[in-house]
Amino acid sequence: MEQQPPNFPPGTPGMPGTQLPHSTARPWNASVILAGGVGARMGLDIPKQFVPIAGRTSLEHTVELFQSCELVDEIIIMMTSGYIPKARELLLDKGQYSKISAILPGGADRSETSRLALDAIADKDANVIFHDAVRPLLDGDIIGACIRALDVYAAVDTAIPSADTIIEVDDDNFIRAVPPRAKLRRGQTPQAFRMPVIAQAYERAARDPDFAATDDCSVVLKYCPDVPIFVVDGDDANIKITQPIDIHIADKLFQLKHKTALPGGSTDGLRGKTILVFGASSGIGLELVQQLEAEGAFVVGQSRTGNGMFVEDRRCVVQALTEAAATCGHVDHVILTAGVLSVGPLAQLTDEQLHHDVDVNLTAAFIVAQESQRYLAESKGSLTLFASSSYTRGRANYTVYSATKAAIVNLTQALADEWSADGIRVNCISPSRTATPMRTRAFGAELEGSLLPAAAVADASVQVLASAMTGQVVDVRLPYTDTTSSQQLVAQP
Ligand code: CTP
Repeated sequence: MEQQPPNFPPGTPGMPGTQLPHSTARPWNASVILAGGVGARMGLDIPKQFVPIAGRTSLEHTVELFQSCELVDEIIIMMTSGYIPKARELLLDKGQYSKISAILPGGADRSETSRLALDAIADKDANVIFHDAVRPLLDGDIIGACIRALDVYAAVDTAIPSADTIIEVDDDNFIRAVPPRAKLRRGQTPQAFRMPVIAQAYERAARDPDFAATDDCSVVLKYCPDVPIFVVDGDDANIKITQPIDIHIADKLFQLKHKTALPGGSTDGLRGKTILVFGASSGIGLELVQQLEAEGAFVVGQSRTGNGMFVEDRRCVVQALTEAAATCGHVDHVILTAGVLSVGPLAQLTDEQLHHDVDVNLTAAFIVAQESQRYLAESKGSLTLFASSSYTRGRANYTVYSATKAAIVNLTQALADEWSADGIRVNCISPSRTATPMRTRAFGAELEGSLLPAAAVADASVQVLASAMTGQVVDVRLPYTDTTSSQQLVAQP
């Protein structure tokens, strides 16, 4: 075992033999992120904890949760050997995870990894909270619930009821038992323990030649059967990323999670920022200009009708960025709302129309992204693109629009990953049917109340701009009331 990686000097908290600074009366809460697996079932060429989901790796999302939990004092990462340098680069280089005390190699199986982690915790009276690195959707409150349960119990599991009937089969695949579903739970992590209990369980397990376990609570159950294990309510969203399909599910779950994060966030950070809005003459773009100016930002609105800005023309885009940077010294955020919607069967689109629609809806996003990158890297700013609710399913008779909007979502996710090292955030807003002049031109008058007001979409966009989100596709749907009203905001990212 690599006892002390070079980036942790002797005396580093959490390293074997090191006493951690500890002034509180409560026990020390040491969390262990289990990231020592290879993710064979995922079938990728990197361990699944490094797969980017919603703009960051699963490992980073998980570490962030423990970093943010006030009760957690220390984070130890148990990493697949060979990947420690990569983990250090991700987690230590930016210095944002101050609670990480060690990144150590994991063992041959999960249980060995847990046991090695116990050796690395200096305080032998600590509480130990194990969590799978591949459960990035954990609700932070559950960490607190597990730790608080340790005030009363020495071992704590997290579990959810099973919606499926669980059957027990024999080696020949015949049912042997169907335990009553009401008594069954699906075990998740975190699992939390008082150190003396979990240490003793693993000591006894080490003497058992038949020892095998897939989690830590079962080790306590088997080798310390007198210790009651309390079960804290888990969460359906706290999935373990295991199979390839789980990445798609996790991506979507992250979007839904931001439903509650959108409203109420402070937008004060936009004051004094330089924001370029492409497509600013009408609809959502115009609303955005007005709302951002009201936030105290310096907004440069660009539009075809206003100042001859053709977003699909690189020279126009370059000129707009150069001028804004020359005037203000920096460009903090770039927003591209421009789009065209041609209605009719694909076969009837002229070549010219086809190229024009693809250019405005998609090529322009590539161009704006390419040309903005260096400014946004300097300002650590953001790029916001616009998709549409039609991105999830192609729509007959506006095929080019819905197909290009699907591509915008893909582009957002790709760029968020590609630019994360530069500190640039990339998100896209996906409004459902919105009352804009573009829509009226395409579909004529529509039922009153069936369309989102453009101001509501702009309001959600301002919140995304002011947030720390990246790689997100933020769905905005009816019903929607703006955040300044007393009614509830129902934006569904
Ligand atoms: N784990 C670990 N050390 C191991 C094996 C697994 O720390 N030797 C961790 C994994 O990194 C993961 C968690 O335990 O965060 C849950 O394990 P599992 O989903 O089985 O992960 P893998 O072993 O990586 O997956 P697979 O079984 O598909 O190879």
